Amino acid sequence: MCGIIGYIGKQPATPIIMDGLKRMEYRGYDSAGLAVIVNDQRIECRKKMGKLANLQAELAKYDLPGSVGIGHTRWATHGEPNDINAHPHHDCQEEIYLNHNGIIENYYEIKAALEQQGHTFYSATDTEVLAHLIEQHHKTLNFEEAFLAALNEVIGTYGVVAISNKEPEKILAARLGSPMILGIVGDGEYIVASDVAAIMQHTRQVIYLEDREVCVLTPQGYTIKDLQAKKIDHAVNEVDWDVSQAQKQGYPHFMLKEIMEQPRVVLDCLRGRVKIEEGLAHLRGLHEYSERLQQCNRMIIVGMGTALHAAMVGEYMIEEYAELPVEIESAAEFRYRKPILDDRTVVVAVSQSGETADTIAAVREAKLKGALVLGIVNVVGSTMAREVHAGAYTHAGPEIGVASTKAFTAQLTVLALITLFLGRQRDLSLVMGQRIAKELLEMPHKMQQILDQADTIAGLAKQYGAYHDFFFIGRKYNFPMALEGALKLKEISYIHAEGYGAGDMKHGPIALIDDQFPTVAIAPQDSVYQKTVSNIQEIKARQGKVIAIVTTGDTILPKVADTVIAIPKTLEMLTPILAAVPLQLLAYHIADQLKRDIDQPRNLAKSVTVE
Ligand code: AGP
Repeated sequence: MCGIIGYIGKQPATPIIMDGLKRMEYRGYDSAGLAVIVNDQRIECRKKMGKLANLQAELAKYDLPGSVGIGHTRWATHGEPNDINAHPHHDCQEEIYLNHNGIIENYYEIKAALEQQGHTFYSATDTEVLAHLIEQHHKTLNFEEAFLAALNEVIGTYGVVAISNKEPEKILAARLGSPMILGIVGDGEYIVASDVAAIMQHTRQVIYLEDREVCVLTPQGYTIKDLQAKKIDHAVNEVDWDVSQAQKQGYPHFMLKEIMEQPRVVLDCLRGRVKIEEGLAHLRGLHEYSERLQQCNRMIIVGMGTALHAAMVGEYMIEEYAELPVEIESAAEFRYRKPILDDRTVVVAVSQSGETADTIAAVREAKLKGALVLGIVNVVGSTMAREVHAGAYTHAGPEIGVASTKAFTAQLTVLALITLFLGRQRDLSLVMGQRIAKELLEMPHKMQQILDQADTIAGLAKQYGAYHDFFFIGRKYNFPMALEGALKLKEISYIHAEGYGAGDMKHGPIALIDDQFPTVAIAPQDSVYQKTVSNIQEIKARQGKVIAIVTTGDTILPKVADTVIAIPKTLEMLTPILAAVPLQLLAYHIADQLKRDIDQPRNLAKSVTVE
């Protein structure tokens, strides 16, 4: 959601900013803009609604020489997406320009006060208020002091970068609840951005700003301060992601590349963490809290969207094998319903980005109430990764497609490892522990067997791409997979899709079934297989078409369903890891056939940093 970049150095700023914005495109946006301090110390700003190509076309008309500048991709919150509401925004005198991610919650009050002081506003955004507020303080204070004074007045969240032509060799950046990372390129050369993807081709040396920290960049160096202007020392971190991981590598879309790399991702996620002989999972982050985990009597797993679906599968796994009561909850609800927690409750936050505002809020609430908070996070150094007590990274590498795929199967893998870890602390037998451990290590190979059928699934998409509605059904471990299959299809193809427990169909949804409303049934040979077959029969009896995801060798469902996709046999608790693959491929190929913008679907953002 929104991307911010700022560059100061000796090179022309515009190409560096545009390249950074391109690398943050995947986050989802509806307009883009940049502002550069040109050589005669004027600030030139260009902004355009729509894709970056529109801004690029605009830039082709002008030369913007200058080596200090800021850029932004906007995902609208306040004010519709158009050229005027796009960032950067400026003050009355057009001397201060800034970009902002997040929401200024008290912007009405600030705007009214500023209007009384004579400021005039041109946009419908909350961000513009911040530019005028800095301008107001700048009348009596220098740029940096004015910036701090303004930030001390706003309520809400921000990742912000600002420049002023009165102090043309300076960039100011700050964060509160929205990520901001400083990349140290060289002497007097810095990139500050909201996403490491915009930095990593220039440097691996980064500093992750904490909330309420401000970073001052000049050709003489960088300083980090708090909102009271007190200097802060910060460790420099090394980014371990590879630039090539964030490239399409010959695939037409990031999503397809990310689906295809899942066997390797799951292998990376398991590396060094499975002890077959002892039937154990070795999760370094959790060892420190081993005793507390053994004593906990309740777990709550929170997340949003796909991460919440992974959490639901985790609930089934942990209750069955670790015999620990688990609840799952949408992080967006958790915080506002006064959850009852104590020091024997473990709250697990699941998130690819580690920046989802709702999930971060849940983490903070749980910590405040004394729970042990664990994270299952993909992005190293993200806000969530730094705020939880402990956790396990998913090691899926950068996920660029808005639709989460490889991060999801990696989350399921980590949840299976946590199940093994907790189970063996409790009552899980050595033999069962060994079976889970052994079968986990089979996952990459079994996922590959499904990926080898990708062409067949692409063919299926041709048959089913013209329908307007889909049901996805499954039971027990594969109920969350029905929700996930429906989410994948709707978010990238814009086809209406709903996920249900197969047993729920008779209680209402089956009324919609006819020959124009196909169902994808996830029906491996597990403990609820017979029940699911009956539910499929009920759909068939009403002329509904059925695509069934079945276990290889199933002889019954190929006779009942219209089409089957086979997945290898595995332990029931691990079937979701395999079932995810055909669901992702089906959604991908249907969306591709409909020529959708698969990696950046309309209205969606990769990481949702506002509540
Ligand atoms: C999944 O395909 C999504 N686009 C979305 O539901 C996502 O899973 C959700 O926003 C949570 O994101 P996170 O994992 O980065 O916290």
